[in-house]
Amino acid sequence: MLRPAQLLLMLGLPLISPAAIPPVDETQVNDLLARMTQAEKIGQLSQGVINTPEEVAAASLLVREGRRGSFILSASAEQAATFRNQLQKVALEQSRLRVPLIFGYDAIHGYRTTFPIPLGLAAAWDAALVERAQAVSARETRAAGIDWTFAPMCDLARDPRWGRVAETFGEDPYLGARLAAASVRGFQGDNPAAPDRVAATLKHYVGYSATVGGRDYNATDVTPFSLRNAHLPAFQAGVAAGALSVMSGFNATDGIPAVADHHALTNILRGEWGFNGFVVSDWTSVEEAIAWGYAADRAAAARLALTAGNDMEMVSTTFEETLPAQLARGDLSPALLDEAVRRVLRGKLRAGVFAQPYTDPAALDRVALAPDALATAREAAARSIVLLKNNGTLPLAATARRIALIGPLADDAGEMLGTWPGHGRPGDVVTLAAALRQRLPASTRLDVEFGCELLETGPRTRALTDGSIVSDPAAEVDAAKAKKRWSSALAAARRADVIIAAVGEPRGWSGENASRAELDLTGRQSGLLAALAATGKPLVVVVFSGRPLVLTNVAAQSQALLQAWHPGLQGGPALAALLYGDQEPTGRLPISFPRANGQVPIYYNHAMTGRPTMVDYRDLTRAPLFPFGFGLGYTEFTYGAAEISTPPDGPAVARTIITNTGKRPGQTVAQFYVRDVACSVGARPVQELRGWETLTLAPGESRTVSFPLDSAALGFTDRQGRWLVEPGDFQVWIAPHAGTGTPLPYRLEKAL
Ligand code: GLC
Repeated sequence: MLRPAQLLLMLGLPLISPAAIPPVDETQVNDLLARMTQAEKIGQLSQGVINTPEEVAAASLLVREGRRGSFILSASAEQAATFRNQLQKVALEQSRLRVPLIFGYDAIHGYRTTFPIPLGLAAAWDAALVERAQAVSARETRAAGIDWTFAPMCDLARDPRWGRVAETFGEDPYLGARLAAASVRGFQGDNPAAPDRVAATLKHYVGYSATVGGRDYNATDVTPFSLRNAHLPAFQAGVAAGALSVMSGFNATDGIPAVADHHALTNILRGEWGFNGFVVSDWTSVEEAIAWGYAADRAAAARLALTAGNDMEMVSTTFEETLPAQLARGDLSPALLDEAVRRVLRGKLRAGVFAQPYTDPAALDRVALAPDALATAREAAARSIVLLKNNGTLPLAATARRIALIGPLADDAGEMLGTWPGHGRPGDVVTLAAALRQRLPASTRLDVEFGCELLETGPRTRALTDGSIVSDPAAEVDAAKAKKRWSSALAAARRADVIIAAVGEPRGWSGENASRAELDLTGRQSGLLAALAATGKPLVVVVFSGRPLVLTNVAAQSQALLQAWHPGLQGGPALAALLYGDQEPTGRLPISFPRANGQVPIYYNHAMTGRPTMVDYRDLTRAPLFPFGFGLGYTEFTYGAAEISTPPDGPAVARTIITNTGKRPGQTVAQFYVRDVACSVGARPVQELRGWETLTLAPGESRTVSFPLDSAALGFTDRQGRWLVEPGDFQVWIAPHAGTGTPLPYRLEKAL
């Protein structure tokens, strides 16, 4: 079994020193517990929500009676600290035992300084950058009066129909594990109670992303082997990095809701990994065990969740309503209740709410949007953007005298924030249009035109490729406006030397409860692109989305194509710098891009098949349009043939020489993949990422990269949670992405 420290070493992450998560005074915990009534104990396991002053008033009654121990503090950035202090004052001055409250919130990719969505952050392939970004997020979140963020999301993205792929680190367990652990370190630092840190939450435990049909909240298909080797690694890495909490998921695997999954929550999380934090349910997911058909009633739902190892109930109130009678009847052990309360009290002590129960309401204004925060957001945005195609049109030449920036996302600040934007504000966003206006040479003219809406403007309105609009009378006004907008855009395109199209999907079609059956540009954008391409002018397309869209036609029609995700406050300046070559595009895809909706789900680390040459469709290849790890820059690299050397005193090493054969300095991400050709426990994926190294090389410069063929590289987890490395044949790659390179055979003579 891979112990936490061993896992962190495998992930190349700093070990959490024993002192990293301050030890807890168990005497204080047990003394408090001993003085609690049963109702007060249950109160510590019950979490409410606070948005408005009215809710503060109502919550105060519950807090005074010791019936709530925690709140989700979703109130505005201006009010959050005040509401916190008001409720905390009730807890500390009016409740019987004066146990401070802990406040949580979804600071997923920033609180006031909004970073790219996590899927975009993952495209930077840079754990240190993710750690720095989440440290900024922690600083602002704590200053707002929140002790605990419900992040990082550790779910593995395999189906882009699922809107929540936006919140993940993509389709690879190793990349996801490294970035999850880095996020925990960014949020918590060496002491989550520090005034610029918050407690982290590993969510949604576990398997939520394997949702059938890509439809949110649906049943999930997770095999025991994929549970261990695909879905659990990021959670295990987060536990090893010292995360204080875990959130169970909305999903159900094998008919067992995650909130009541004893094997996952107790046997694995606590038994195998030694997790000593606390588990919170997702929103009302405890009572949803009834709808799943697993719990017969509210009492059963509460009992099954608590017994499984889910300590705190978010929003629903089955614990408060049903546990007293169940305890009185002996249907539930009081010791179970006590242990759940101990975990929550330890979490509160570690998150600092006993030492610092109140927040200075002026603190957020002092730290929000600090220069270093915006600089980090700018760096993260630039590193997140992936250049998918370029026929030489980019970087834009200073000689381009007239540029037409066209599309509904050219100048829409709100859309750049993405899903779960925290308290990011459109007013703080620099859009692509604004950034180009600042960046353009004085001699260059910029025309900005929307061309069309992100979504259909009216009932039954649709655009033919000649721009004519077919609509019913009810939409006449829209159609007239739409026709004018369309023709104005095409006129600008015809005048331009270069067209930059800013298209994509609405941020509201990304994230939770935002699954899509067709992964296409929304509304009339495809028609707009076709019309722009028909002008014959060089067309650069920038796609803003929270997921991979089907960009097959977009790629065919454009001379250059960039995936910008939802890039946060600084997406505009980052794009302008990349478009003009002030900076090199360096992003690499953390998720495969399909050629067609019918290919989904599609991911590189899929299982092998007994007929590997017969797996294409009748009407389409199985291969993605753009593979995992893919991304271009403004120079070219060659990867030499890999070779393996076996030193006498250590593991074999795979290495290759990489050369910048272009005319500009550039960066490449050398990716190290392995395949276990025959595994006794079950067929392993056709490729598995087990390392990467980012190289920046000058034109003509070469460098050797090497990766050890050690336990971390070759091993896997069996169904019992043991880390095994079996002798036998392997294949290894060192390549610029998962869809290229020649595998090198390697035989491991004896188990490591
Ligand atoms: C939501 C999400 C979860 C979030 C929680 C609190 O339903 O599933 O990710 O942390 O509720 O907002």
